[in-house]
Amino acid sequence: KPPEPFRVPLPVPAVLAPGRHPDHPGADYYEITDQVAHQEIIPGTRTEVWGPGGTFPGPTLVSYSGRPTVVRRINTLPVPTVNHLHGGHVPAASDGFPTDLVYPPGYHDMGDMPGMPGDPLAVTTTGHRDYEYPMDQRAATLWYHDHRMGFTGPAVWNGLAGFHIVRDREEAALPLPGGDRDVPLMIADRSFTQDGSLRYPAADGMMPGVTETYMNGVLGDVILVNGAPWPVMDVAAVRYRLRILNASNARRYRLSLGLPIVQIGSDGGLLDRPVTHTTLDVAPAERFDVVVDFSGLRAGQEVTLTNQLGTEGTANVMRFRVTGPAPDTSRIPERLADVPRIDRAEATVVRDFTFQKKTKVWGINGEEFDPTRAIARPRLGDWEIWRFVTDLHHPVHMHLAQFQVLSRNGKAPGPTDAGWKDTVDLRPAELAEVIVRFTGYRGRYVLHCHNLEHEDMAMMAMVEVV
Ligand code: C2O
Ligand code: CU
Repeated sequence: KPPEPFRVPLPVPAVLAPGRHPDHPGADYYEITDQVAHQEIIPGTRTEVWGPGGTFPGPTLVSYSGRPTVVRRINTLPVPTVNHLHGGHVPAASDGFPTDLVYPPGYHDMGDMPGMPGDPLAVTTTGHRDYEYPMDQRAATLWYHDHRMGFTGPAVWNGLAGFHIVRDREEAALPLPGGDRDVPLMIADRSFTQDGSLRYPAADGMMPGVTETYMNGVLGDVILVNGAPWPVMDVAAVRYRLRILNASNARRYRLSLGLPIVQIGSDGGLLDRPVTHTTLDVAPAERFDVVVDFSGLRAGQEVTLTNQLGTEGTANVMRFRVTGPAPDTSRIPERLADVPRIDRAEATVVRDFTFQKKTKVWGINGEEFDPTRAIARPRLGDWEIWRFVTDLHHPVHMHLAQFQVLSRNGKAPGPTDAGWKDTVDLRPAELAEVIVRFTGYRGRYVLHCHNLEHEDMAMMAMVEVV
């Protein structure tokens, strides 16, 4: 029986303090152990999670633009892991390529997983890996999550995800709400068994993917925010900055609050100017930084964040409860940041990618993921137009680069397409054009659908930046 909504207080993941490591002078250094842990998610039950640092979501990391960050991930789980910094501008060796497995100690002796053509050179058998992030990128809400080939869906479902926020001077100079009025919200649906265990319909323990019933993706009937079911957050009658992330495997949301939702940032950081929404469509992996002004409400008043695409339980997300007035010096500037519009004439190459179902799997340009075969070899520093065509809904995500949406079905971009993006939500039978430039690092990255079941069932391609 699902818990009563709006009873559990909203948890906010702990922000880790950085340390130092002699091997990485000048970098902020973190150690996070991925471990089996037990957490009270549904009140009165204990749920086994795969927690980065033992919690779901994992701890939040905060980096400063220009200061390198190194994250040592130690794997004590019963499965290999691969960690990816989603939205990160990161060298290929630290990007979490889907076959760059980190085995838990002793695991390698048990032999490879079936269906895992891992690159033996990239496999780590020491039980840990140091992911090096130069942080040569602007302020943005990034997140980290597992990315193992064929098993991202169950790994993220079990808990391997968290926030990684980048700050910079341009953003710090703005009078936006900050401190405890700057709150990350990880929205993710899950299903539970009677005893509180997470329920994931894996095809069969050792094989990637799900049974055919779940081909379109795994949906849960409980909506979690920061790991709590339909939580409630006490707010003063002031402005709050909410960093909304859809970390669901496959669910899309149409969020509505009954108050204006003023978007100030997208996947790749601040917009040039704010965009006001009455409803906000959020596909898996997308981030929307928004400001909500509760100042018109009196103490005791409540507003509910709902999902217009949901039914019954999934139509609710969380609730805000106003405690009373408080001083507020924040505001939303008319101009937020410098975001130059890239003209399509800048592009020297146009490429087409079709996202479609193949008989029992999903594919790009008719092919299943092959980690050894490049679908494209973009040249470092060149602007390119990538055209994505779909059969059904697919949130398309690109590693290494942020892009701008140029058009949808030959018309203007949609209301959620503003700014720099790394994920574009393609609707059924749609053609979207984006303009993109890979900079900084050569090597193997991926392009894939961020519906995690589609991704696990091969809707991914290797892109080699040359
Ligand atoms: Cu959020 Cu390739 O992933
Ligand atoms: Cu898809």
